[in-house]
Amino acid sequence: MTRSLKPALFLVCLLPLAWWFWLGFQQQLGANPIEFITHGTGDWTLRLLLLTLLMTPLKRGFGWAWPLRVRRMLGLFAFFYATLHLFTYLWLDQFFDWGEIGRDILERPFITLGMTGYVLLLPLALTSTKAMMKRLGRNWKKLHHLVYLVATLGVLHFWWLVKADVREPLLYAALLGILLLARLYWARLTTRAGASSFRGA
Ligand code: HEM
Repeated sequence: MTRSLKPALFLVCLLPLAWWFWLGFQQQLGANPIEFITHGTGDWTLRLLLLTLLMTPLKRGFGWAWPLRVRRMLGLFAFFYATLHLFTYLWLDQFFDWGEIGRDILERPFITLGMTGYVLLLPLALTSTKAMMKRLGRNWKKLHHLVYLVATLGVLHFWWLVKADVREPLLYAALLGILLLARLYWARLTTRAGASSFRGA
């Protein structure tokens, strides 16, 4: 089962993109296709980031092995959709007008937060290979803890841009909060177990 899980999940992760292409061919992307794609790619970046963060708790909570096998792929898909999101903004929204883009980054806090999130996600994607994992050793894990900050920036970015109805960003914030609390809980358990085995030694 686990052998076919990865290719199956790979295809599932491509479904949003396939759906947008399909809607595009049918001319069904709505009155503002650029906004439609920006929102879609932003939503999927955040969903995939949270799914990536869910894998370790699933492994720890249920003892399953498969979540860690698909974690890297989910993280890379989050990066893939984040890159589509960024390029939709840079190309289709701003036509690579770097002056305007620079002003946006400096003057619109939600763009500043999104851009910071993307810049921090970049080294995680670049160091996701087994070779880089080996090369960075213990620092790899430390570096990859940044994913929590990236997800937090993603939620804040979303929160900041919605004008009135904050229900959706609130839901993402709650999910992220649960994932962070689970990690803190296990970190404390590990520290305690370490301390008691030290006392016992
Ligand atoms: C980790 C990085 C990022 C995440 C997780 C993220 C996530 C999101 C989400 C969830 C939305 C709202 C979608 C909706 O309304 O349904 C959004 C919208 C948007 N994002 Fe991002 N984003 C990220 C990075 C960026 C970057 C780097 C830029 C550009 C510099 C950007 C520009 C925008 C714009 C222009 C919108 C639409 C704003 C509007 O409603 O007018 N985002 N993003």
